[in-house]
Amino acid sequence: MVTSIAQQSRAELGGPVSVLSRQKQDHVRLDGLLEELATSTGAAEERVLARIYRLVFPHAFAEESVLWPAIRRVLPNGHEITLEVEREHQEVNELVTQLEEMSIEDARRPAVLDRLVEVLREDVRDEEEELLPRLQAAVDRSQLRRLGVYWELVRRVAPTRAHPVVARRPPGNVIAALPLTVIDRLRDLVEYAERAAPARMLDALRATDRQLVRAARRTERLPIMRMGEDPSTGVNT
Ligand SMILES: [Fe+2]
Ligand SMILES: [Fe+2]
Repeated sequence: MVTSIAQQSRAELGGPVSVLSRQKQDHVRLDGLLEELATSTGAAEERVLARIYRLVFPHAFAEESVLWPAIRRVLPNGHEITLEVEREHQEVNELVTQLEEMSIEDARRPAVLDRLVEVLREDVRDEEEELLPRLQAAVDRSQLRRLGVYWELVRRVAPTRAHPVVARRPPGNVIAALPLTVIDRLRDLVEYAERAAPARMLDALRATDRQLVRAARRTERLPIMRMGEDPSTGVNT
């Protein structure tokens, strides 16, 4: 009988540094943002989506590179249960890429957005009710704290955008992290500058962003970035 992470106190989860407390904290923040998304439209919806992406992508990347490998090391069925959440992460990457390529008036957009919210909620549920309680049962509190520190470190320097072409497993996703983090965080800066820039600067900033997107796409497609991937991870690719 496993108890969901959502129903446990911080002390039960191993204290504030434990990876389980950090996971729960982010999942609660995501829940709040999804509630906000449900009542937003137009430009406000775009802003909430951007905040969701900045939360979800580094969070998931650190899971793929730190947490799921740890689960595969300690649980006999680790491969199967982590593959399930890697598929969910892959679908999130694909759905966000589709949304970014669609105009705000695109008739297909509401269905893609609904599916994105659904998969994000499924992912949190699978982690809180399955993966993380099983990890909790298999390791001691000091290991949960060590994993918490390592997961947080990786989360802080991880890519911040969708990258559906790279592997969801090491070594591919770890190799991809460095160049994609640099490109993503530069794009975040350009996006931030766009909000405050005078109109005459906007064309130059948008051109810079397009160049960064092209650099990201070229980097993602290097074959080394797919190393370690289970072929069944892709949903549509
Ligand atoms: Fe998570
Ligand atoms: Fe996740």
